[in-house]
Amino acid sequence: MNKTVIEAKNLDFYYGNFHALKKINVSFSEKCVTALIGPSGCGKSTFVRLMNRMSDMVEGSRAEGVLQIMGRNIFDPMFDVSELRREVGMVFQHPNPFPMSVYDNLVFGHIIAGTTGKSELEKIIEESLIAVDLWSELKDALQTPATSLSADFQQRLCIARAISIKPEILLMDEPCSSLDPIATQKVEELITTLKKNYTIVIVTHSMQQAARISDFTGYMYIGELIEFDRTEVIFRNPTDQRTEDYISGKFG
Ligand SMILES: Nc1ncnc2c1ncn2[C@@H]1O[C@H](COP(=O)(O)OP(=O)(O)OP(=O)(O)O)[C@@H](O)[C@H]1O
Ligand SMILES: [Mg+2]
Repeated sequence: MNKTVIEAKNLDFYYGNFHALKKINVSFSEKCVTALIGPSGCGKSTFVRLMNRMSDMVEGSRAEGVLQIMGRNIFDPMFDVSELRREVGMVFQHPNPFPMSVYDNLVFGHIIAGTTGKSELEKIIEESLIAVDLWSELKDALQTPATSLSADFQQRLCIARAISIKPEILLMDEPCSSLDPIATQKVEELITTLKKNYTIVIVTHSMQQAARISDFTGYMYIGELIEFDRTEVIFRNPTDQRTEDYISGKFG
């Protein structure tokens, strides 16, 4: 059994009076892909956004309970959020490269963090593009505007940017939803490769995608984590009737 890197204990989350996450108790394992599935509005994005405290940006929101990332409760008042964001990278639904060159997309955060040596920056670029299998395609096109790349390249570049800071955990909120099937397949293959080095949490509307790439799956419904288990158990032999109804396509 891999060690636990993310653990929620009686985790509740509110947007004002709206109770968006209800008493979540779950552990996610290191160097595994964990998928969160469930119908629209059930709290999948809310849960992953909490994991790097992006939720802090929503005024009037509050969390209760414990969310431990790599052994530390991220709601502890002494907790350093900027350190958390270095350990927990995030990739979004729509590729969101900065309106800059490929090169600048990859070095921007590092320059702000104080890395200025040319050879060091070049090493970061090479390593992160190799990791997403874009090095041979882009090594001679580093000055290309990132927004002119295909959607698939843009999303892989965003993944490269996220992993260039060497996080432990990579959060992906529907990373393939704006990609065509071929690009989706490339990103899925990439996720499978990346889990050798990273703990990955992926939100997906595609049950097939969860079944293809995840080791564990959590089924959420109206703010509750209804069932969590190894992916094959969730899809072949779920315990809860609500999970069964969702995976058999009765609603959602
Ligand atoms: N900033 C916000 N302020 C108030 N309510 C919000 C906010 N963001 C989300 N919600 C509400 O919280 C609930 C959970 O939303 P969330 O976006 O986490 O769901 P989701 O499972 O990711 O849905 P989808 O599959 O559509 O992306 C929804 O009822 C949503 O309307
Ligand atoms: Mg969402």
